[in-house]
Parts: sequence; C-alpha cells; structure tokens
Amino acid sequence: MGRRLLEGGGAFLHIFMYPGPVVEYGPSRSPKPYENAEAAMAITFTLNGKSQSLTDVSPDMPLLWVLRDVLNLTGTKFGCGMALCGACTVHINGVATRSCVTPVSSVSGKTILTIEGLSEDGSHPVQKAWIEEDVPQCGYCQSGQIMSAVALLAKKPHPSDADIDDAMSGNICRCGTYQRIRKAIHRAAGEPAKA
Ligand code: FES
Ligand code: FES
Repeated sequence: MGRRLLEGGGAFLHIFMYPGPVVEYGPSRSPKPYENAEAAMAITFTLNGKSQSLTDVSPDMPLLWVLRDVLNLTGTKFGCGMALCGACTVHINGVATRSCVTPVSSVSGKTILTIEGLSEDGSHPVQKAWIEEDVPQCGYCQSGQIMSAVALLAKKPHPSDADIDDAMSGNICRCGTYQRIRKAIHRAAGEPAKA
C-alpha cells in the first residue's frame, strides 16, 4: 500500500495541490473533443482586441490550454500548471491572472490580453525596456514576467523596488533574472535604472 502511494506520488500531489478539476489533457496534446454534449455552450470573449467565440471546448478546459492548443497563441507558457510559477500569466479584465488554473468558461464576456496582444513587433514600452536591459536568459518565464510587469505599471506607473518585488513575487525565473527585471520595470516607468 505504502509503495503504491509512493509510486502514485505525482497524482497524489496533483490532487491535493491543484486548485481546479483534474484534467487529462495538456498543452502538449490535442485538446479532448467535447465529451458532454448537453453541457455544450458557446464561450465568447475578447482576445487581444478581437471577439473570439468557441463552441468545441470543454467549459472546464484551462484557458492556457485553449490559448496554446486551440488558438495557437504559444507565447503564453506552461510551467507548473498549479498557479505557482507565473509562466502562464495573462490579463483578464486588466488583472494579471494564471491561465493554467482558469477554466475557459469563467472568461465568458471578459477581455483577455496575452503577450501577443501587447504589440506585433515588440514595440510596447515594457517589451522595449526588456530588450534594452537584456533581461531574458533562456526566456521561458519572460512572457509571464512581462504581463505581470505591464499590469503593475498600469496600476502604479512609478513603482518602488518594494512594489516591484511584491507584484512580481509570483513569477519565478529559474535563470535568476530578477535584478534585470527590476531595472527594466524602472526603465519602462521612465526612471533611471538603479544598479
Ligand atoms: S503554469 Fe500557471 S502558474 Fe505555473
Ligand atoms: S529567463 Fe530562464 S526561466 Fe526566466
């Protein structure tokens, strides 16, 4: 019994740490076809400035899966799937939100902004600051970092270091780019970057 529990540790942890329904599909697989026809409904929202309507996805499919696998917007990344790393951050009605634990049905009627919606050519002030400060290393976490930074600056155009650390604390970078992120946010705010 003990060994069975250990062997099933991944699922065990998943069940107790994942705050949403356990789903079998993932961003590297095709989404499951809609299985419950009675629950079928159109889900309509605004995505990067355009109306988007979906009729062939399960209502409980995480928004991240929809963005990446259904709509082919792969700038938003999958990291932990448990709202712990911030790689999947998008804006929902202007609020930085973990799309990996957001059922797509919950965004019906709302406005979503992904990294692709910031600009077509990397010309958003935060993207430019990221380039000028040479922030990314491997880059995997960076779209989530940028989306959190954009949300912070919308709320606080001139954040202090403490504001930045607080707002960005949920975005993990395993390459340790935190100092450059902080400098880039100050740069985007039009302030001299601190060393
Ligand atoms: S993938 Fe969503 S927070 Fe890690
Ligand atoms: S740049 Fe590599 S994880 Fe952040």
